[in-house]
Amino acid sequence: MKAVILVGGEGTRLRPLTCNTTKAMVPVLNKPFLEHLLGYLKGHGVTDIILAMSYLPHHIQGHFGDGTKMGVRLSYRIEEEPLGTAGAVKNAEDLLDEPFFVLNGDILADIDLTAMMRHHRQAKAKVSIALTPVEDPTIYGVVETDAQGMVVRFVEKPKREEVTTNMINAGIYIVEPEVLDYIPPAKPTMFERYVFPLLLEKDEAILGYPSESYWIDIGTPEKYLRLNHDLLLGKAPSLFKATGGVQTGDGSQINPSANIKASVLIGEECVIGPGVEIKGPAILGPKCEVDEGATIEGAVLWDNVRVGKKVILRNCIAASHSEIHEESEVPDNCVLGDKVVVGKNNKLAQGTRIRPDKRIAPGSISF
Ligand code: GDD
Ligand code: MG
Repeated sequence: MKAVILVGGEGTRLRPLTCNTTKAMVPVLNKPFLEHLLGYLKGHGVTDIILAMSYLPHHIQGHFGDGTKMGVRLSYRIEEEPLGTAGAVKNAEDLLDEPFFVLNGDILADIDLTAMMRHHRQAKAKVSIALTPVEDPTIYGVVETDAQGMVVRFVEKPKREEVTTNMINAGIYIVEPEVLDYIPPAKPTMFERYVFPLLLEKDEAILGYPSESYWIDIGTPEKYLRLNHDLLLGKAPSLFKATGGVQTGDGSQINPSANIKASVLIGEECVIGPGVEIKGPAILGPKCEVDEGATIEGAVLWDNVRVGKKVILRNCIAASHSEIHEESEVPDNCVLGDKVVVGKNNKLAQGTRIRPDKRIAPGSISF
């Protein structure tokens, strides 16, 4: 089976994590996010995958190549100007000759694609849309269905008073090739605001496929952190087999007096000093160094992060080559961009975001 993954957006809301990379490449459990998505598709027999891209494509292409290493066949479609979600798929029309999946490139789910395809065929739908329940539908596309599960209304980013259901578009579709005839070529067009409403107007059958399975979008750093935690805690078992323990990469050295409590993933060649406390769910990327007496709880560290003596990191994210010097504290939902240096004796406020390369002088921030 075939799929198109939309990896066009710049990921502005994930900044500063996406200042130097794209959403698709941010590491989740020490692997690029997109690798998890490809594994998910492959798990359902979808191995012919087109990446529709408009931003930093070479980064992705350089890493994944033709997909052989992942056991899939990858093709790339690059837009000179972003064509929107539907325009990007139209741009790959010559490769699409049978019902195919379309996935937003910033979601990860455990929704059963095999069963979804079965329902799609049974309903003889032109499009099927996977639906997932959320708390706040106003930041998504709301999808109303009738008693037979057919879509009757689609409202993208509804106002609060327009919300009639908490079931939203999960960003996973099955599309029949003839639907592409409704999409103008080489013109920015969205499925959500143009194609779906048009199909409804033309009385074309759109099936809603509701699912209670795991689903998340990595729109913000908070959700990015949650995804890492969820996978490590085994909330999406077919995406990641959680061991519930401490997994340590090759060449890492852990001082015997360090206290590491599950679930923790430690990358290759890390050095963990004496008396360090790490409490899961936590992730350390490759080549991180954690000095004596530091505490890490619920944090996600990318590669080459330096954590000084007696530093406290709690439910925060530290991107590549960032440094937190001794006795500093980085609390909940803080995000340090690549190569940020937090000088010693600083105490950041919750939710502080620091852009890449910024240096904070010793003792200049206290809360
Ligand atoms: N190739 C390409 N070209 N991809 C694009 C383009 C484009 O011009 N514009 C957006 N994308 C990709 C984004 O990278 C993302 O993976 C996906 O399409 C959806 O775009 P977002 O910008 O993330 O939209 P959203 O999160 O506000 O809303 C969408 O996702 C929700 C679920 O997370 C909509 O589909 C909603 O209806 C849905 O509920
Ligand atoms: Mg999104």
